[in-house]
Amino acid sequence: MRGHSGVHDAPLDGGVNWRIIRSLLPYLAEFRGRLFMALGLMALAKLATVAVPLVLKYIVDHFEGAGADAMITVPLALLLGYGLLRFGGTFFGELRDAVFVRVAERAMRRAALRVFEHLHRLELGFHLSRQTGALARDIERGTAGMSFLLRFMVFNILPTILEIGLVAVILLVAVGPLFMFTVFVAVAIYIAFSVWVTEWRTRFVREANLRDNESNTHAIDSLLNYETVKYFGNERFESDRYDRHLAAWEKARTKNVLSLVLLNSGQALIVAGSITVMMLLAARQVADGAMTVGDLVMVNAYMIQLFMPLNFLGFVYREIRQSLANIERLFGLLETPARVQDHPGAPDLVVREGTVRFEGVEFRYQDNRSILEDVSLEIPAGHKVAVVGPSGAGKSTLARLLFRFYDVNAGRITIDGQDIREVTQDSLRRAIGVVPQDTVLFNDTIRYNVAYGQPDASPEAVERAVHLAHLDDFIARLPDGLDTVVGERGLKVSGGEKQRIAIARVLLKNPPILIFDEATSSLDSGSEKAILEALNEIATRRTTLVIAHRLSTVMDADQIVVLEHGRVVERGTHRELLAHGGAYARLWQHQQEHEPAASGD
Ligand SMILES: Nc1ncnc2c1ncn2[C@@H]1O[C@H](COP(=O)(O)OP(=O)(O)OP(=O)(O)O)[C@@H](O)[C@H]1O
Ligand SMILES: [Mg+2]
Repeated sequence: MRGHSGVHDAPLDGGVNWRIIRSLLPYLAEFRGRLFMALGLMALAKLATVAVPLVLKYIVDHFEGAGADAMITVPLALLLGYGLLRFGGTFFGELRDAVFVRVAERAMRRAALRVFEHLHRLELGFHLSRQTGALARDIERGTAGMSFLLRFMVFNILPTILEIGLVAVILLVAVGPLFMFTVFVAVAIYIAFSVWVTEWRTRFVREANLRDNESNTHAIDSLLNYETVKYFGNERFESDRYDRHLAAWEKARTKNVLSLVLLNSGQALIVAGSITVMMLLAARQVADGAMTVGDLVMVNAYMIQLFMPLNFLGFVYREIRQSLANIERLFGLLETPARVQDHPGAPDLVVREGTVRFEGVEFRYQDNRSILEDVSLEIPAGHKVAVVGPSGAGKSTLARLLFRFYDVNAGRITIDGQDIREVTQDSLRRAIGVVPQDTVLFNDTIRYNVAYGQPDASPEAVERAVHLAHLDDFIARLPDGLDTVVGERGLKVSGGEKQRIAIARVLLKNPPILIFDEATSSLDSGSEKAILEALNEIATRRTTLVIAHRLSTVMDADQIVVLEHGRVVERGTHRELLAHGGAYARLWQHQQEHEPAASGD
């Protein structure tokens, strides 16, 4: 799927990637009026700039022909016009900037938002295999690249093309085709050289970006694992690894800059060479009397004036290549198809009673390793089914499939008879509340994290949920109460507190179907008992899937399913399974012996 979108491996030889530029156009449509106004102002600015050397020529020619009293006879209008044109060239340019800035910034905002939304649309699998640090940098660089590209298209490339055209015409009319031809050749050589060298050095730019991403990702990952680093005293190891990344980055950057030196020097040589040729030509013509001194001054002024933006064009081309590479990555993200997608026109899930069925479900994360095989189970409406089994058996995977973080490879999952792939993800996820195995919190207040379950909930509702999740005591002991900030990923609250916050927000969401994945595993048996009571209370009217290691927490379930290596090996009530004397009975026996405190008696 990814291969078709050529963006990921855009050709280096194709010069500017027009596909990317075309895909930018829709972002400009929003401010069409402003865009045309900016283009108009740009044209005015260029006309004024190009007229300056022309006026200069007339002034010089006037002096050449006149005597001592020339000053008096120089038409005042000509001098005034010269000044006005100079000012106009700059002024219209500034005006154009002012008009256009809105267009570029808005486009940037729109693109950043689209990518952000798309990233949230992509499936869990994408995010698990992506480095968040690198992702953030891609977005940042991509949107900055867009702004740059848009700005410089309007502020530099188009005006320069216009200027070259105008100057060519003026030279043709004023001093003949030879000069026009020379200008074209000089400009062509210059552009060809710039493009060629820039293409060659693009690999260094990419390499530098890649290394930059790598070192950055490593730094973030290392800092996120701060505690682990300390546990094992591996600061040295970490900084050595970081330094290796930095060294690669340093090398890439150095190559990048060295190749830049080559480019700049080459460009300067071409500019100096072509101006010299033009001046030689002009000098000959003046000596022959075919041209006036004013013409020579004009030719010189044009050449200098022309190469000024062209000099800049070299820089801009480089930057644009870089921007394009960055935008390419950004749009590449946008073009990454979401593997879990709504069918066009998919209806919303209608939960009448809330019966959940897994029918012959098979699933694998990667093609070469099967995780679930032929799993069938039913959670009748309002019932509670527990899934138990050893670590890695696929219990959490079941929950992820029901929540449709992934699509099953075979079989189906239905809610009240509706295949969950046939309904909108939104409606499906609205109907399901999950207390995950590892809760991650937003770096905000407890109130914010609880209210996340239903952002428009009233403060009273939030407090009720907090109460139901037995968070009262904890919060009463906090100086800032509900407004305590939990730290990045919730690291400033204990594991049990985090779980209770997660429970509170699911209570607030109040969905008809619940999934508790080891929801009380971090609690001591006292708190666990209290919370289980609360959970059981809300679970009575709801369809509930409970995943647990501690069997004592699920002995009251309507049905217990024992999962081993992705297969259902036993099912029944607690009593039935004990009587059966199989895997469950053995597990129970084991836990009774080793965790008497948690036995629930
Ligand atoms: N994103 C993933 N990509 C590849 N393999 C995965 C992924 N997530 C889980 N697995 C593998 O799938 C298997 C089942 O994982 P799952 O999380 O469902 O186990 P579990 O039964 O919940 O275990 P535990 O009791 O330890 O939570 C594991 O062997 C795990 O390594
Ligand atoms: Mg699990």
